[in-house]
Amino acid sequence: MKFTIAIDGPAAAGKGTISKAVAAHFTFAHLDTGLLYRATGRKVMAGMEPLQAARALQPEDLEREDLRSAEVAEAASKVAVIPEVRAALVAFQHAFARRDGGAVLDGRDIGTVICPDAEVKLFVTASAEVRARRRFLELTASGDATRFETVLADVMARDKRDAERDTAPMKAADDAVLIDTSELSIEAAVAKAIEVIGARLA
Ligand code: DC
Repeated sequence: MKFTIAIDGPAAAGKGTISKAVAAHFTFAHLDTGLLYRATGRKVMAGMEPLQAARALQPEDLEREDLRSAEVAEAASKVAVIPEVRAALVAFQHAFARRDGGAVLDGRDIGTVICPDAEVKLFVTASAEVRARRRFLELTASGDATRFETVLADVMARDKRDAERDTAPMKAADDAVLIDTSELSIEAAVAKAIEVIGARLA
């Protein structure tokens, strides 16, 4: 069975958590497409040219432990603006989306550009303040002495770059179901996603 679930939205809205939970619930494979851009950005930080880095990507590059930092997120958002870099990453995402047994892909342009025919599209969002607060709490819990204002400014700068770029900007597909997690617990957000997907599968 081929069944694609596209989950888009800005950073720290909860789309990663929802995607993992949904994939586990329906036993579908999951691809965090942000990792493709992060792994490319990481190679650029190490001195490689962006397009060369995207073309050289290997599955094991997505397993690196150091892809979660704010610096790598920034580098990812920058390489993601380059149309040729995006084009180099399309085939891998298409193949993943149409694998047998069902697939969940989360990112920014899955429902609009990569999988416009996805069986289910969700757009998961939350206010910038709520998302920055979540990121800030995660960072301080892991011993990173940052300021809330710095995290908020980073979140807003990344949103702006992702939403305003010319190629495949972050936006909700017309037929996406919106889930705003500003005032929803993660359990409630996951339950809502499962309800929407369950209804389409039935
Ligand atoms: O989801 P994330 O925070 O790991 O994504 C990192 C960056 O990668 C994000 O700021 C923009 C880019 N990205 C993208 O342009 N398209 C995607 N489908 C996923 C991520």
